[in-house]
Amino acid sequence: MRVGVLTGGGDCPGLNAVIRAVVRKGILHYDDEFVGFMEGWRGVLENKTMVLDYDSISGILPRGGTILRTSRTNPAKRDGGLQRCMETLTHNKLDALIAIGGDDTNSVAQKLYEQGIKVVGVPKTIDNDLSGTDFCFGFDTAVNTAMEAIDRVHTTAEAHQRVMVVEVMGRDAGWIAMYSGIAGGADVILIPEKPFDIEEVAERIRLRHARGRYFSVIVVAEGAKFASDVDPTQGAPVVTEMGKDEFGHVRLGGVGQILAREVERRTGLETRYVVLGHIQRGGSPSAFDRVLASRYGIGAIDMVHRGEFGCMVALRGNEIVSVPLTEAINKNRLVDRALIDVALGLSEPLKSEKK
Ligand code: F6P
Repeated sequence: MRVGVLTGGGDCPGLNAVIRAVVRKGILHYDDEFVGFMEGWRGVLENKTMVLDYDSISGILPRGGTILRTSRTNPAKRDGGLQRCMETLTHNKLDALIAIGGDDTNSVAQKLYEQGIKVVGVPKTIDNDLSGTDFCFGFDTAVNTAMEAIDRVHTTAEAHQRVMVVEVMGRDAGWIAMYSGIAGGADVILIPEKPFDIEEVAERIRLRHARGRYFSVIVVAEGAKFASDVDPTQGAPVVTEMGKDEFGHVRLGGVGQILAREVERRTGLETRYVVLGHIQRGGSPSAFDRVLASRYGIGAIDMVHRGEFGCMVALRGNEIVSVPLTEAINKNRLVDRALIDVALGLSEPLKSEKK
């Protein structure tokens, strides 16, 4: 078969491992040929391709980023965009397309599937909030990067007797904040799922310090919202720019800075903030992500040969399965109550929360 491959949306560690697994199994076991589309859906719109053969995937397993490059191009937002994509796929005589991406990339895949394109999706987002699968590759690496940063912040917080605020990624879901915060021993973890009261955050810090602790670490997801307005944010996520990308996303960032200012003002404790930003998306994938990405790649090319189109490869428990693309793109998978309770169990309770 002739199979197209693309990577779309924000990059994350493990993309190359998926590409490698797809191409290796395809060439070695099915005698497939591959066409790589460059820069996500932009490559399909503009017929920008690259050779994807056995040599081109050599040595890419441990490399971050993606040899196919990526973009947040949305063909559905361009005049005749979907039609142009279909023409490119026909022009390249493709039997199938594998789209590696998050809900945005997979929503375009679903639209093309509805037009008759044989497409298989692979779940990717470091935010880990794609429905239909238990884990996205890239998330584990991001969590480890954030955890290491929190560990480092801890020692300087302790030395200076400060409150340190660490802002991590997480647009709609706080998986990175939760996992890295619990793993890094954060005292307060704030996530988009649960708008927070700044006075409660300050009170938890005060209570902790009243117990004799002389430093604190707060981890906040970039998409976390103030429940009551202390700032220009008015209960909405804090954004750095007003513009939106082609999928309608604003550029988040800044909640950590406002939080640090408010904590310092309300507690009188010296407070600093750091924003980890794209450091979390870069670098070499963890062993877990390399294995998961390889399993997804193998799963995706097997699905192509089983004719399971309009579906996404997914992890359920420890099984690789296939789920309809519609299941993946309809809603975000949010942090569950049980995990929130773990974080709360580890942090200083407010008087009203005491058992
Ligand atoms: O794709 C997920 C994500 O990493 C979000 O956590 C973050 O808000 C966004 O991408 C950043 O996107 P960009 O790289 O386009 O600034």
